[in-house]
Amino acid sequence: MESNAAPLAANYAVRLVDSRLREDDAMAAQTGTTPGARQLANGAGPEAVISVSGLVKRYGDVEAVRGIDFEVERGETFGFLGPNGAGKTTTIKILCTLANATAGRAIVAGHDARTERDAVRRNIGLVFQETTLDTYLTAEQNLRFHAELYGVPKSAVAPRMQQVMDMVGLWDRKDSLVSTYSGGMQRRLEIARGLLHAPRVLFLDEPTVGLDPQTRSSIWTYINELKQREDITIFLTTHYMDEAENCDRIAIIDHGKIVAIDTPEALKASIGEDRVQIHTADDQAATRALADVFGLEAGVHDGAVTFSVAAGEQFVPRLFAELGIPIKSVSVSRPSLDDVFMSYTGSTIRDAEGGDGGMEFMRNMHRMRTGGRR
Ligand SMILES: Nc1ncnc2c1ncn2[C@@H]1O[C@H](COP(=O)(O)OP(=O)(O)OP(=O)(O)O)[C@@H](O)[C@H]1O
Ligand SMILES: [Mg+2]
Repeated sequence: MESNAAPLAANYAVRLVDSRLREDDAMAAQTGTTPGARQLANGAGPEAVISVSGLVKRYGDVEAVRGIDFEVERGETFGFLGPNGAGKTTTIKILCTLANATAGRAIVAGHDARTERDAVRRNIGLVFQETTLDTYLTAEQNLRFHAELYGVPKSAVAPRMQQVMDMVGLWDRKDSLVSTYSGGMQRRLEIARGLLHAPRVLFLDEPTVGLDPQTRSSIWTYINELKQREDITIFLTTHYMDEAENCDRIAIIDHGKIVAIDTPEALKASIGEDRVQIHTADDQAATRALADVFGLEAGVHDGAVTFSVAAGEQFVPRLFAELGIPIKSVSVSRPSLDDVFMSYTGSTIRDAEGGDGGMEFMRNMHRMRTGGRR
């Protein structure tokens, strides 16, 4: 049984015989001392901390992951974005050694996720989609248990525990039973626990699902602070577009396949230009000037001159300087990540969460609007 979160805590746990809080520099793996390291050195860029090729996972007839390839660079915050059942958790489980791929290969921190499980596990922290805390223990007891399982040196446990609990604002509640924590506090504690053994790669499977916007935003503050403080690579899955904006790069996964992978900005740019609206003293003259000066085709809609242009924000200063017609107001709107998601998966994330109803209709509608993309 590979999927149940709670028993996985035990499955996932690994006693570190050599009791190192952290292995030597991540890239030491690339000196070629292990088979995984050699693979990384040969097959991936020098800074790849995760390298996945041809990954497939089948559960009986269900092909959860259908041949994916990607790399995550050291220090990146990399997001997997996709509707329910897209294969996000399955991919994370393979990377974290909790499930075996049916085909393909995953190298994490220089080690093969199938053949060098303990080495991978030493180097990663994992926050599951479902909680795996022992709620009948205190927060501190949960963390001590984790430290024991991971062989964190005894002398390092207390300071490290305080450091990670301070980071998530729970140090003063360390003696409370976890059952008395709110959902958001439990999530923060799980993140602290995932960090306790100073992993090189932190996997977060929907770290903020079900949390209120304030708690979600504070969890992102911790994550961003963490990145300032520690040399860590973050791989997360999410349904939230605003959360995906925090990622350096995003892979959109749908039906087990990666359908797009790039920075949030590039993904937005890939689906279209920015839309600029201006109010002017003379819209007809402005429209002519846009054509003459910038070669842009503009229309007048809803009492505003409207046109599309790449990098709208950078264009606006030129517009003011060169248009030659007084501008009363301007607005620039970009394609959002929601638009990106829509464009590549044919559904908004909310539709995707709500099941399949109307999905095909949405897809067709969208294809019509985007001229058949995807
Ligand atoms: N242990 C399992 N046995 C059988 N099928 C499974 C198992 N785990 C996952 N699946 C199937 O694999 C597919 C991908 O599931 P996965 O959990 O990876 O999706 P996900 O992208 O994480 O979705 P969600 O956003 O709902 O968490 C689904 O069709 C799911 O039913
Ligand atoms: Mg999932």
